[in-house]
Amino acid sequence: MRWTQWACLLLGLRLSSATLAVRDHDRHDYFVLQLEQGHSPEVVAQRLGATYVGRTGELDGHYTFSSPKGSSEDVDITLTELRRRRRKRSEEGIIDGPLRKRTMGLEGVVWSQKQELRQRLVKRPPPPVGLQSRQKSAEQQTQDKSVEQQEAIQRLDQIATQLDIGDPIFKEQWHLFNPIQLGHDMNVSGVWLQGITGQGVISAVIDDGLDMYSDDLKANYYANGSWDFNDPGPEPRPRLFDDKHGTRCAGEIAAVKNNICGVGMAYDSKIAGIRILSKPLTDEDEATSINYHYQENQIYSCSWGPPDDGKTMEGPSVLIERAIVQGVQKGRNGLGSVFVFAAGNGANYDDNCNFDGYTNSIYSITVGAIDRAGEHPYYSESCSAQLVVTYSSGHNDAIHTTDVGKDKCNTGHGGTSAAGPLMVGTAALALSVRPDLSWRDLQWLCVLSAIPVHEEDGDWQDTAIGKKFSHMYGYGKIDAYRYVELAKNWESVKPQAWYDSPWISVQHPVPEGDQGLAASFDVTQTMINKANLERIEHVTVTMNVEHTRRGDLSVELRSPEGVVSHLSTPRRNDAARAGYVDWTFMSVAHWGEKGVGTWTIIVKDTNLNEHNGTFIDWRMKLWGEAIDANIQELHPMPDEHDDDHETASAIVTTTSISANPASHATPPPGNPTDHIDRPTKPKPGASDSSTSPGSPTGTGAPDTTTSSAPDATKSDSDSYLPSFFPTFGVSKKTQVWIYGSIGLIIVFCAGLGAYFLVQRRKRLKNSRDYAFEMVDTVDPDESKQRLRGGRARRGGELYDAFAAGSDDDDGGGFSDDEDERYEDTPTGSSGSGGGNGGGNGREPH
Ligand SMILES: *[C@@H]1O[C@H](CO)[C@@H](O)[C@H](O)[C@H]1NC(C)=O
Ligand SMILES: *[C@@H]1O[C@H](CO)[C@@H](O)[C@H](O)[C@H]1NC(C)=O
Ligand SMILES: *[C@@H]1O[C@H](CO)[C@@H](O)[C@H](O)[C@H]1NC(C)=O
Repeated sequence: MRWTQWACLLLGLRLSSATLAVRDHDRHDYFVLQLEQGHSPEVVAQRLGATYVGRTGELDGHYTFSSPKGSSEDVDITLTELRRRRRKRSEEGIIDGPLRKRTMGLEGVVWSQKQELRQRLVKRPPPPVGLQSRQKSAEQQTQDKSVEQQEAIQRLDQIATQLDIGDPIFKEQWHLFNPIQLGHDMNVSGVWLQGITGQGVISAVIDDGLDMYSDDLKANYYANGSWDFNDPGPEPRPRLFDDKHGTRCAGEIAAVKNNICGVGMAYDSKIAGIRILSKPLTDEDEATSINYHYQENQIYSCSWGPPDDGKTMEGPSVLIERAIVQGVQKGRNGLGSVFVFAAGNGANYDDNCNFDGYTNSIYSITVGAIDRAGEHPYYSESCSAQLVVTYSSGHNDAIHTTDVGKDKCNTGHGGTSAAGPLMVGTAALALSVRPDLSWRDLQWLCVLSAIPVHEEDGDWQDTAIGKKFSHMYGYGKIDAYRYVELAKNWESVKPQAWYDSPWISVQHPVPEGDQGLAASFDVTQTMINKANLERIEHVTVTMNVEHTRRGDLSVELRSPEGVVSHLSTPRRNDAARAGYVDWTFMSVAHWGEKGVGTWTIIVKDTNLNEHNGTFIDWRMKLWGEAIDANIQELHPMPDEHDDDHETASAIVTTTSISANPASHATPPPGNPTDHIDRPTKPKPGASDSSTSPGSPTGTGAPDTTTSSAPDATKSDSDSYLPSFFPTFGVSKKTQVWIYGSIGLIIVFCAGLGAYFLVQRRKRLKNSRDYAFEMVDTVDPDESKQRLRGGRARRGGELYDAFAAGSDDDDGGGFSDDEDERYEDTPTGSSGSGGGNGGGNGREPH
């Protein structure tokens, strides 16, 4: 075993070092090409008039080419033409001579991308904590200790002695052992006392560098897994004045047990540094960095992402997505690289980690923060993709860790940036006893071992596997002891399977105010069986909504088992005239569900203003554990979204009812349509396909379906009204309901007068609420169980279209704390300085 590992390791080194040629962006342009199997990059280089540089990171079938800046335009034109051609195969015959000649012999080019240097990722550093109040509180904390606290301090001394921890700030590292707020720590000492300290595990901190000359890191530094992509070379040394973030994160994971500063969670594990955040970066470099030495680096700690300003909606490009998938499929000899992402610090600006394509990736363990008192800190973002929380800054303190310098310590590390690495350290401890666990096993361990916190304010729901989920806290806080104990005897889950729904066309205006536009899709047992899917882990929803103000929109997803995912929430600063364009949201709230039954998506525009929009279409993907491991294949590499048109062979035609219930039987003109005609698509691909002759868009005919999704595409008009009220959850086919008019409201109330009570909601504030409680109205009993725990709203509080913008306050549900926070911070009254700089001032630099 050891020998083969070493052999792989050395082989890996050889391969990787061969490919890591330094790029010279001043004088060259670079292109990444994906080639069909059997096409040689050398031959392609020749045809293209470019130089073959090498494989693109670890990506199968991807190669990097370069061309001197002066002459790269030709390459660019050729590749652009090739891309156009691939999209419009039918027109191949009519392109003009020179271009045709130019692209000859390049048929093997499947995909290409010119590389641009961009700086789009930012660190997730500590939002400021008032220093004075921190000191004061430290003083307070040393006075007036209770008996329990005094005992805990003695226990801490004992542990330090037993483990021979002489690190000077160890006893300040409350996140490891908190003798003041008892129980509010990682609970890691019991793991260490079993001799589990991270031996044999290597984590890589992808960040702004790692000070390998710090005496607190040196002995655990893993040079071979490290690289500097910003100032290319093998040593990711911090160079800029503020290149401190990565070192601090690294200290939390693997600071050496010695006489310097404190210790890491896994203080006998190794730590690599991969530097990408200090300068602009190409997608190629980013893709390479997240697979860097991925046979040896086991866990990648990522405390960064697109800006958390409450208006950015950005994720990894397709090349980077491919690298992430490559990592989970091929990294760690097929067990999968473990990616841990910090949830984001933008809660103060209404930001939500589902607007970040890294944190909402199914391949990420997304980690939010709680503070040393177990409270939700004002910065930590919520979302349905958040798996767990762990400790970070807040409550007048922060994380104490290693800093840049020979023997420097830092006492102010924080933000979700500091929470992520504590999860990394926990995973490192688990992998040191169970190196055979897959990336999904580690996520399962999170779901099953995390401990719910603040059950009174986290908007907790009971989930299908008997766990509790909160958008604010995920499945709860990570407890290292529980995590490792569960890991010890964990039986690995079977391979990943998935069920893809067809595109579900909606094509209907989103009503403004507090009504939602709901669209449902029925998943049958047959579909699930065919997909070889035993139980769900992640759910993703890709959607297109046109809107003139994106931040007005919010979306929720309701599962057949009654669990609600708030896929998106309104963002007051997000004025993008964009809507959602092929954006994929993710939820971990449905973990363990079977998936069979009606899934309903509800799109809302709760801001009564001049901005409005149209829900175009959506599709859903259920990811989870396979039924039969033997027949399950690996998921294909993600593709450019254009290709959705090709893969979405199952086209569903839905019939929308009009806003006027009296006329619902007549589909509004132009509403029923198939997926081919998707006006939100700005890409050439969309218009291409809509030109296909006979495309019945706008005809209202509900039969434009392909044979591959018969279950989903039978007549739509057969059931929606009769089954409308009482059996919403069991509608037969894909249907769309519009709750868009007073008329419908009246019908609704008349039909369900027995349990509906339309009343003014007490708590509607600034469109931050979820008034449309369909499940409540259908099955109040279930809703009590499933929804919102203690603050379940009655079904009768259905909506109040005119309450938006009223002065009624205290939020309600999911976003209470955020509401309070942003009321506080602009006035500076929170004292913690997080609101400084107005709407978007939290750049890290
Ligand atoms: C914390 O660890 C101890 C062992 O050190 C264990 O007995 C205890 O159950 C753990 N706490 C929780 C909440 O699981
Ligand atoms: C790192 O790689 C070098 C060669 O590139 C090798 O000599 C050395 O043993 C490796 N070190 C470790 C710890 O793997
Ligand atoms: C948006 O509002 C404008 C002006 O009131 C109206 O003309 C348009 O039809 C609306 N669009 C949608 C999609 O509701």
